[in-house]
Amino acid sequence: MDPLMLLFLLIAGLTGADSVSSVRRVTVQSGGSVTIPCLYEDRHKDHVKYWCRGIDWRSCTTIVRTDSPQKKDDVSIRDDPDQRVFTVTMNNLKIENDDIYWCSVEISGDFDDGVSVNLSVSDGSPELSVDKQEVNALEGDSIGVQCRYGDRSSEMKWCKIGGSCVSGNSGRLDGRPVEIRDDKVNKVFSVTMWGLERKDTGWYWCNDGYQQIPVHITVNQPRSNRWEQVLDAVLKAGTGVFYLSCTIIALQLHWSSCRKRGSNQREEEGGANTNHGS
Ligand SMILES: *[C@@H]1O[C@H](CO)[C@@H](O)[C@H](O)[C@H]1NC(C)=O
Repeated sequence: MDPLMLLFLLIAGLTGADSVSSVRRVTVQSGGSVTIPCLYEDRHKDHVKYWCRGIDWRSCTTIVRTDSPQKKDDVSIRDDPDQRVFTVTMNNLKIENDDIYWCSVEISGDFDDGVSVNLSVSDGSPELSVDKQEVNALEGDSIGVQCRYGDRSSEMKWCKIGGSCVSGNSGRLDGRPVEIRDDKVNKVFSVTMWGLERKDTGWYWCNDGYQQIPVHITVNQPRSNRWEQVLDAVLKAGTGVFYLSCTIIALQLHWSSCRKRGSNQREEEGGANTNHGS
């Protein structure tokens, strides 16, 4: 490798150039909502994350922070340290919200880390869109996501946050099979993922080579399992109640037989006394 390139990579690595990553460019229709996921490295788990507005990062205006304020007007922030993702949700978007924003991580005593997100708010329907950004599935199920794209779109891809992308007809994302159907006439890019497991829960996005639209997939336990759990809990509780009842009955029997024996003895003694008396 070129020593200069090596030096560059070393410096980039040391300054944590890409320790925060997100989508680069998103377009949302005015009046709509969007949630932007920002992935960060493990070492940032306990740090404060914030969402900042302005082309120049050094002079950007902080809108929300994971400490406070977590919510301001139509913007809110949420941190998920287990997934190393914080998300920013912007509701009721207006044309004047169109700007450059920064997924940022506060690093005390040093430069903060951040990555820019170009958020466009359009009057018409955006070039790249999904019906909904939140998709729920049950374990073992398959899901389908349809991404609508436009004339400016080039190569369509389906990507997992912080991971790889799938393009073409099929592939795998973190071992999960993905099938893609690209309807070039209607400009619909359909993604299907099979045999979902709970570990597939997370952020994905459609990338049209120009902009991205994030989609969150949640994989839950199937209902039958949940019913089994409920049944199991009821059975366990039932068994507990049964044993408790048995214990109480046994104790009562024991006590009453003790009392009986006691009174029998007293009766016998009393009887003896009366015998003596007669
Ligand atoms: C943000 O994206 C829009 C189009 O979506 C583009 O016109 C604009 O130049 C971009 N801004 C920056 C600073 O890259």
